[in-house]
Amino acid sequence: MEEKVYDYLVIGSGAAGLYFSIIASEYGKVLLLTKNSLKESNTYYAQGGIAAVDKVTDSFEEHIKDTLTAGDELCNPNAVEMIVNEGPEIIHNLIKRGVKFTKDKEKGIYSLHKEGGHSESRVFHFKDITGKELIRALTKSVKENKNVTIYENMMSVDILTEHQKIKQPKDYKNITCYGIYAYDLKKNNVQKILSKSTILATGGSGQVYLHTSNPAVATGDGLAMAYRAGATISNLEFYQFHPTTLYTEKEKESSFLISEAVRGFGGELKTKDGKKFMHKYHKLKSLAPRDVVARAIDTEMKKRGDDFVYLDVSNFPAKKIISSFPNIYHKCLTEGIDITKDMIPVVPAAHYQCGGIETDLHGKTDIKGLYAIGEVAQNGVHGANRLASNSLLEALVFAKVSSASVQRYISKNAIDFTGIKEWEYYHTERPLEKVVVSYLRNTIKRLVSEFVGIVRSDERLKMAQKMIDLIAWQARDYYMQTKLSKETIELRNIADVASLMVKFASFRKESRGLHFNINHPLKDNEIWQKNTRIRNTGRRSKSDIIK
Ligand code: FAD
Ligand code: SIN
Repeated sequence: MEEKVYDYLVIGSGAAGLYFSIIASEYGKVLLLTKNSLKESNTYYAQGGIAAVDKVTDSFEEHIKDTLTAGDELCNPNAVEMIVNEGPEIIHNLIKRGVKFTKDKEKGIYSLHKEGGHSESRVFHFKDITGKELIRALTKSVKENKNVTIYENMMSVDILTEHQKIKQPKDYKNITCYGIYAYDLKKNNVQKILSKSTILATGGSGQVYLHTSNPAVATGDGLAMAYRAGATISNLEFYQFHPTTLYTEKEKESSFLISEAVRGFGGELKTKDGKKFMHKYHKLKSLAPRDVVARAIDTEMKKRGDDFVYLDVSNFPAKKIISSFPNIYHKCLTEGIDITKDMIPVVPAAHYQCGGIETDLHGKTDIKGLYAIGEVAQNGVHGANRLASNSLLEALVFAKVSSASVQRYISKNAIDFTGIKEWEYYHTERPLEKVVVSYLRNTIKRLVSEFVGIVRSDERLKMAQKMIDLIAWQARDYYMQTKLSKETIELRNIADVASLMVKFASFRKESRGLHFNINHPLKDNEIWQKNTRIRNTGRRSKSDIIK
């Protein structure tokens, strides 16, 4: 019997995956699969909004300049230009598809927020729940679309390439993607899914850190899969910490974000004794670029031995605070903090992966038929540091642009799907011991947090390298030896991503953007104004680094 082959296999239902599916469905059949429910993603939790030029006082040139400045001389200007120029069209299209953005009632125009690093107010938002609104409208659209088949609770495990064919190639050059193996979390089995094109839209990897704004699904699965399959990965040393997540005594899987828009609104950072400190670090004070603010908070906390700093908006009219940030207001109230009267205790947390699977300006990776869009991708937009509210824009623009490129690829290439093996249950039936998985997972998270955090050093990175080699080996071994489960799949992915992060951070011997190493505190454009790149040659050695 002939096997079913899809045109477009989209993995992940955040902004990138949903928007791609909607556009691609105009040309062919889409299979959209996602690890959890359709809504669960980083996108869903986005607060601030989507940056796009709208005001007459603003311009594309200014938005481009702000993005390049944040990226610290490592962005691809062509990629930046593309997303900025497409911004107004994307917003227009979202509105056409039913996405609501908050309007200024008196002026009758869209209310635009200002965030750190932006020279203008240009952030379109819906209250402080922009992501929830975006997901509401886009999921409605895919659910109503007859050309999109949706599988929820379906987790991709590995990418199918020549290496899963009965006749295997000798090296990792010139390989093609034929689809994936996917683990059905409800039925507990693995399916081989064949597709002419595979689009990774699996988001980021915040769960590699102990404290993160990212939800539980963000375990770097797509990145790890692409690396194992032989795609080039770049710039993983640049991990963005959001300066302000809500501090709570009890550790949580995910930290609640206090949007940068709160600082744009006028919120000020203060130490525990109520003193302002940001003037010591940057002329833009609390609205300085994110890397500067996160490092300043980290420095103040370490210097004073404090667990948090405060963010204070209590001097503004209560009505205005509540109407601007209803979600943040209510969430803080549940923690016993009335933000109209009390200062908000905040700490930085891992937030956004600036590096990722390397792609061109069409989302194309160096594996034929494999595309990467959204946070999982490194396409040159963010460089060494992402400008606030540029990632949703980037995810949507690349979803749009890559859909045309994928369509061209599948119409021009005859792909030979013969000889691809079914999933082999080489894993033993040894049952999972949760204590082992949680020990390995937490050890990796602690290691990455302590040694590859906001401030790094050669000594700590050297230690991290030795420890991660051992622990990641154990994690992979446990995956191989134990009955397949969501826990072991994620453990292997977290181990792979953590190993890569340590490798990347150890390699770059300068400080730039989000990568700050006390032993190399200066930026060195002569040697390091370039992307760091790694490709798995199948040998897992230092030669993986592409010089
Ligand atoms: P995601 O939205 O993360 O979606 C990834 C999808 O892939 C999910 O559906 C997930 O379940 C699925 N998935 C993962 N692994 C697998 C697997 N193995 N198999 C199947 N499916 C899988 N950016 C802005 O521009 N503006 C903001 O205001 C903003 N606020 C933010 C607030 C928070 C709290 C967070 C966490 C991030 C915020 N960001 C913001 C960043 C932005 O939300 C993300 O970068 C963006 O949403 C990424 O979209 P995406 O589609 O690439 O990934
Ligand atoms: C925020 O609302 O502060 C998040 C914005 C972003 O991460 O881009």
